[in-house]
Amino acid sequence: MSIHAKAKRITTRTLVDMKKAGEKISMLTAYDYSMARIVDEGGVDVILVGDSASNVMAGHETTLPITLDQMIYHASSVVRACHRALVVVDLPFGSYQGDSKGALHNSIRIMKESGGHAVKLEGGREVIDSVSRILSAGIPVMGHLGLTPQSIYKFGTYTVRAKEEEEAERLLEDAHLLEEAGCFAIVLEKIPAKLAAIVSSEVRIPVIGIGAGNGVDGQVLVVHDMLGITHEFHPRFLRRYANLYDEMKGAVESYVKDVRSKDFPNDKEQY
Ligand code: KIV
Repeated sequence: MSIHAKAKRITTRTLVDMKKAGEKISMLTAYDYSMARIVDEGGVDVILVGDSASNVMAGHETTLPITLDQMIYHASSVVRACHRALVVVDLPFGSYQGDSKGALHNSIRIMKESGGHAVKLEGGREVIDSVSRILSAGIPVMGHLGLTPQSIYKFGTYTVRAKEEEEAERLLEDAHLLEEAGCFAIVLEKIPAKLAAIVSSEVRIPVIGIGAGNGVDGQVLVVHDMLGITHEFHPRFLRRYANLYDEMKGAVESYVKDVRSKDFPNDKEQY
């Protein structure tokens, strides 16, 4: 039996236990089989099939255009690659807002058709009916507060959220609401580190940050950003662990050169 087959699956329960034990949770996005395999074997705890696939995989300016069917396609590819990580799938824009029955129907489709283990949605009080109805079917829900990219046209900017007291208080209340409704974790995106630490200390469920400082229970990044594939994106919160854009482009340039010069294929590379 391979090490891979023996790896114990991370569950929503594992994450809550990790928070209790003070162990930090690592989360990265993935949208396809090959990348998800690398991320899973790299030991990440949670893989998010984020609607950032809309930007990273499809080249859209926002996350709004991606459809439920497209999310299911990405998620099913990721699930086939993962043996250890918990796979969380974003509910795309329009699939849960203002219609809790639709939210449940769409979450059931994600769970049945992709094999994902949980769904994530953006917002607090305004989506709480959807959160409760999805949870009533036994589907784990991860919340997402702070900068919520599906509302980008309402915000008008991708800058830090909840700097003012009123918005910070509302965010804290929303975090409590999501916990009371039964969410197993919350993502906090691009908010002041102090506020994120307060949220993390006040709720019992894990709080995973992106641009939310080190006082939370775990971190999430978009894998193409941390690997340096999306090389033109430089937010302060992003640490790059590789520069794959240059490395991959260099490899492609070498290939083109070798084909043009007739160096590739050589005698050993043919039948
Ligand atoms: O879609 C996504 O990648 C996300 C993360 C930024 C948390 O929601």
